[in-house]
Amino acid sequence: MKIDILTLFPEMFKGFLEESIIKRARERKCVDIAIHNIRDYTKDPHKKVDDYGFGGGAGMVLMPEPVYEAIAAFRTENSKVLLMTPQGVPYQQEHAYQLSHCSHLIIVCGHYEGFDERIRSFVDEEISIGDYVLTGGEIPSMVIVDSITRLIPGVIEEESHIQDSFHNHLLDYPVYTKPVEFRGMKVPDVLLSGHHENIRKWRLEQQRKKTAERRPDLLEER
Ligand code: ADE
Repeated sequence: MKIDILTLFPEMFKGFLEESIIKRARERKCVDIAIHNIRDYTKDPHKKVDDYGFGGGAGMVLMPEPVYEAIAAFRTENSKVLLMTPQGVPYQQEHAYQLSHCSHLIIVCGHYEGFDERIRSFVDEEISIGDYVLTGGEIPSMVIVDSITRLIPGVIEEESHIQDSFHNHLLDYPVYTKPVEFRGMKVPDVLLSGHHENIRKWRLEQQRKKTAERRPDLLEER
């Protein structure tokens, strides 16, 4: 999969791209992620990308031209263009599964103070990562890329996806490692029993219990 991220703050992506699973996925060529500065696509001689909003109001507004040009530089007939905005569709695991099958994503990071409404007409989907407002679309775009990359075959063990919270509308079951007892808290006996069928049943029961307690809305969807 190829992912082009369009942003005014390319430096923000350094640690994200160069650590852990995302780094490994890139090295293994499971995903090709490129960061592009929207400012490089303006035709303005002063490289201006934002201006005051018509009608007044606080803050600067990202202009449509540099975003249009940046998208045009990378878009092909196989591209899906995503815009990060708190006004978008709330992002969920199901959406990550769908996007992980795309061959090319272009992700536009919204501007902290707003973007020209006409930018909406250049994109295929608007996505929000939750009902709170961040300073820009950079962190949301990392959330999307991270959640998609881990689903690409070869990036992490396939079995991990089946265990994921939200898979089948259930939260994940509890896991334990050494020591068997820590500050009086013991690993449940069933996990030490080696009885695979009992372990499977216990885990499913734990998933149902935890989901009922914490996220009954997920059980309704199920
Ligand atoms: N930009 C600012 N806040 C955001 C959010 N919650 N989701 C997506 N993009 C955003």
